[in-house]
Amino acid sequence: MSKNFKKNLLSLILIFAMLFTFSGCATTNPNQSNSNNQTSQTTKTSDNSGKIKIGFSFETLNLERWQHDRDYFVQRAKELGADVLVQSANSDSQTQYSQCQNLIAQGIKVLVIIPHDGSAIAPIVEEAHKAGVKVLAYDRLIMNADVDAYVSFDNEKVGELQAEYITKLVPKGNYFLLEGSPTDNNAKLFEQGQKKVLQPLVDKGDIKIVGEQWAQDWLTQNAYNIMQNALTANNNKIDAVVDANDSTALGAIRALQEQNLAGKVAISGQDADLANCQLIVEGKQSMTVYKPVKEEATKGADVAIALAKGEDINANGKVNNGKIDVPSVLLTPVAVDKNNMVDTIIKDGFHSLDEVYKNVPKDQWPKQ
Ligand code: BGC
Repeated sequence: MSKNFKKNLLSLILIFAMLFTFSGCATTNPNQSNSNNQTSQTTKTSDNSGKIKIGFSFETLNLERWQHDRDYFVQRAKELGADVLVQSANSDSQTQYSQCQNLIAQGIKVLVIIPHDGSAIAPIVEEAHKAGVKVLAYDRLIMNADVDAYVSFDNEKVGELQAEYITKLVPKGNYFLLEGSPTDNNAKLFEQGQKKVLQPLVDKGDIKIVGEQWAQDWLTQNAYNIMQNALTANNNKIDAVVDANDSTALGAIRALQEQNLAGKVAISGQDADLANCQLIVEGKQSMTVYKPVKEEATKGADVAIALAKGEDINANGKVNNGKIDVPSVLLTPVAVDKNNMVDTIIKDGFHSLDEVYKNVPKDQWPKQ
């Protein structure tokens, strides 16, 4: 036997042996082998790319502000080499819960949640932890659970800014408080902040709170109904509305407009939604609270990735959720009226001058 022949024979035997082993596997248990291949393939892909998977559960994406949050968050996460799976629950707690379970099952490392109901969603935190997934409460806190981190604004401050602005504009008179959704912890914090400012003036007898109501799910239509009823109940004798956000302010302003009161009754808001910025420069809404969402979403993505890597999140505060003090990153909100619209919202590129001033005659536009 020549040396070459021996070598070739050996190679042939080896090839046959390998073929036999593989086909043996495939016939023994095709299903298992298939699913294993798939699993190892997914693991391999994520290993190869080194990509972290983040699940983001939005309570809704129908509101303008949450669409901005999504876009900025995804953009930042991508820059940092992570993938984001986004789900929207259409303001339904049960839907949100099962969407979160589904995200956990997809092998995410971190679950970011804007809860529709901060208490109803709480048990998902333990479920996530059992699967080795960290939980970040985004903008709204998750109550009574071991949440890993919270990224938001100083929400009590938001309420203070609203009440400070309106009380400066209307130091005396009848006040109506139009609050947010009762299932949102933020709505309570906004109210607390407002009352911090309002109470001393009530005690002094300068202002009288003629009513206070909560708009379920922050809906414009609910706010419209509330405002309409409040105007009727008070014979239109309302001088100021401390309103918790822009979607509800839209409804309230519509009710005021029907009574020819838009622009005569002071009213606050929050979020700097485009429609509300337009109402501000038209003189129908007094102010909004601008919360630079880009900053929040960017920080949110940074924190999510730090959690995934087990790194420090650089918290600047703690917020108690009834169970623990949640390590928090809290940003600063800004009061905006027609005087600083250009220097804040327009300068940041949040909305353009053309968009905001669309309904104002061009000769009255500010010089930039
Ligand atoms: C957010 C506000 C928003 C509101 C309605 C709150 O939790 O902080 O910015 O306007 O929800 O979605």
